[in-house]
Amino acid sequence: MIVKKVLSNKINKFPKIILDTLAKSPIGERGGLLDLRYHQIITPWNWKDQSVLDLGAHNGRWSAAVIDQGARQVDCVDVRDELWKKTEQIKPNWMSKVKFHQADCAEWIRSNTGNWDTILCLGLLYHVSDPIKLLLDMVYQKPKKIIIDTYVTDGDEPKLIPHIESNLLGQGIVNTLSKQAIVCIPNLKAIEWLFEQVGWQLTEWKTPGIENRKDCKLYNTNQRITLSAELKTKNS
Ligand SMILES: C[S@@+](CC[C@H](N)C(=O)[O-])C[C@H]1O[C@@H](n2cnc3c(N)ncnc32)[C@H](O)[C@@H]1O
Repeated sequence: MIVKKVLSNKINKFPKIILDTLAKSPIGERGGLLDLRYHQIITPWNWKDQSVLDLGAHNGRWSAAVIDQGARQVDCVDVRDELWKKTEQIKPNWMSKVKFHQADCAEWIRSNTGNWDTILCLGLLYHVSDPIKLLLDMVYQKPKKIIIDTYVTDGDEPKLIPHIESNLLGQGIVNTLSKQAIVCIPNLKAIEWLFEQVGWQLTEWKTPGIENRKDCKLYNTNQRITLSAELKTKNS
C-alpha cells in the first residue's frame, strides 16, 4: 500500500459553508478534528463536476464540502434522518444538489445504481455487521474512487472484531426487539486484502503535522485511518 502525505499543511480551512450548517447542528462538533479530516478527505481530490455517493451521510457535512468544491450532485444515504431533517430546516444552498435517502446503506447499495465518480465511506465501516462485504458492494458500483475514513483494529492477518453498539437500524428501518446490534470493526489487513483481490490500489493519506496535534490522537496512533482506493492502472 502507498502512504501519501496530503499536500496542504494548512489545517484551519474547514469551509465556512459547512461550519454554518454545523453551528446549528444538534450535536457538538469538534472543529479541529473535522478540519483535519477535511484535509485528508477533501483536499487531495478534484471534485469538479463529480457525481458522489455519501454513505452514512449524517447531516450532509461532507456532501456540503464536495459541493463547495464543485461536485455536480450527491446522493446521501443514512439510516437516521433526524440529522438531515435539521439540515433541511436550515435550507443551506448546497442542499439543492443533494438527494437524501433514508436507508440501511448495505441494503440500499445493493438495490441502486448511480454511475457515481466517487463513493464516500466516512465514519461508517465500523457501524455495520459486514464491512468487507459493504466495500465489495461499493466496488461493484464501479466508481472511479472510494474514500474511506475509519477506525481500524490491529493485527497482521485480515480480521474483523465484533462489538455491540446501539442498534441504529432498530430506530426506524428494521423492526427488531433488540436495542443493540453486533457490528464489526475491520483491521487494515482485511481492507487491504479485499482491494488486492479485486485489483484495486489502496493509498493511505496523512496530513503533515497531525503528530503534533493533541486532538488528533486517534489518527496519530493509527486507530483511525484515511484511505483511497482506485482501480489499478498499468502504471500503479
Ligand atoms: C460516525 S457518523 C459519520 C458521519 C460522517 N459520514 C462523517 O464521517 O463525519 C456515522 C453515520 O453513519 C450512519 N449509519 C450507521 N449505520 C448505518 C447504516 N447501516 N446505514 C446507513 N447509515 C448508517 C449514522 O446514522 C451516522 O450518521
